[in-house]
Amino acid sequence: MQLMQDKVVIITGAGREQGMGQAAVHKFAEHGARVVVTDLVRNEQEQANIERVAQQARDLGAEALAIGVDVSNREQVASCVEQVIETFGRVDVMVNNAGTAIGAGPFLEQTDAQWDISYNVHLKGTLYFCQAVIPFMQAQGGGAIVNNASMLGVAAESHTAAYTATKFGVVGLTKTIAAEFGKDNIRCNAVCPGSVATQMQEEGLKQFAEWFDITLEEAWKDAERCALGRSAQPGEVADAMVYFASDMSSYVSGQALLVCGGANPGL
Ligand SMILES: NC(=O)c1ccc[n+]([C@@H]2O[C@H](COP(=O)([O-])OP(=O)(O)OC[C@H]3O[C@@H](n4cnc5c(N)ncnc54)[C@H](O)[C@@H]3O)[C@@H](O)[C@H]2O)c1
Repeated sequence: MQLMQDKVVIITGAGREQGMGQAAVHKFAEHGARVVVTDLVRNEQEQANIERVAQQARDLGAEALAIGVDVSNREQVASCVEQVIETFGRVDVMVNNAGTAIGAGPFLEQTDAQWDISYNVHLKGTLYFCQAVIPFMQAQGGGAIVNNASMLGVAAESHTAAYTATKFGVVGLTKTIAAEFGKDNIRCNAVCPGSVATQMQEEGLKQFAEWFDITLEEAWKDAERCALGRSAQPGEVADAMVYFASDMSSYVSGQALLVCGGANPGL
């Protein structure tokens, strides 16, 4: 019996190579789940990306579905969950992983667009998916929600205002949902990664290198200030997601778990 045997798991932001969403798809598939691979699909390439990750899950022996969905669009989210229910008849686990680094930048230069996109993707995206899946989880007797927040969801660094403020919001939302739906056997927890070796982190660090007039190598070194002295691999965060999604954490809810290699989270 595998940890996630036949559980139906929706994962957002899962189309990108080397991302935590893709790693989560692989881990859940390896643990016996049926996986729904979702991501923004604005063109053929992005459609091909989610199809490719779904095929990777099938190659690992899992049933898999690929659905294009913008998490900040309530109608698309509702339609995605409808398709999942039509196909699998249930939803056991929701992994809200989609995110954007657009909210990083010098505070005095931050724009409405940076704040709106950060808010819409991190907070409304998580809200919309939770509102869409919770009634099904209630009806079937329980479920687990795992939100990908950040170390910047529990502590702050400079040049990250819109990102940090909305990730703090994700942790707040996580705790509210845990408090409100524990009675329905629905648990809700957040993973809070430090530096993870993904494309988003590479792109973000290029910007930091510019703002602080340092090399990209120096920016990576700075991001990797932690006891373990390295970034996480995406699969190491996905392992924590599987823990929160599985019965291994059956009495754990409303928690924000730092997965940060022993970094000092800061302020
Ligand atoms: N990489 C890090 O160091 C790090 C650290 C802490 C937290 N995080 C968080 O982890 C999560 C995954 O990030 P990642 O580093 O794996 O990067 P990634 O770029 O692989 O993943 C982000 C994904 O979110 C998707 N996305 C963005 N806007 C979307 C929208 N409106 N609708 C649907 N999908 C959307 C992107 O297409 C992408 O696939 C994000 O929430 C990020 O904020 C990352």
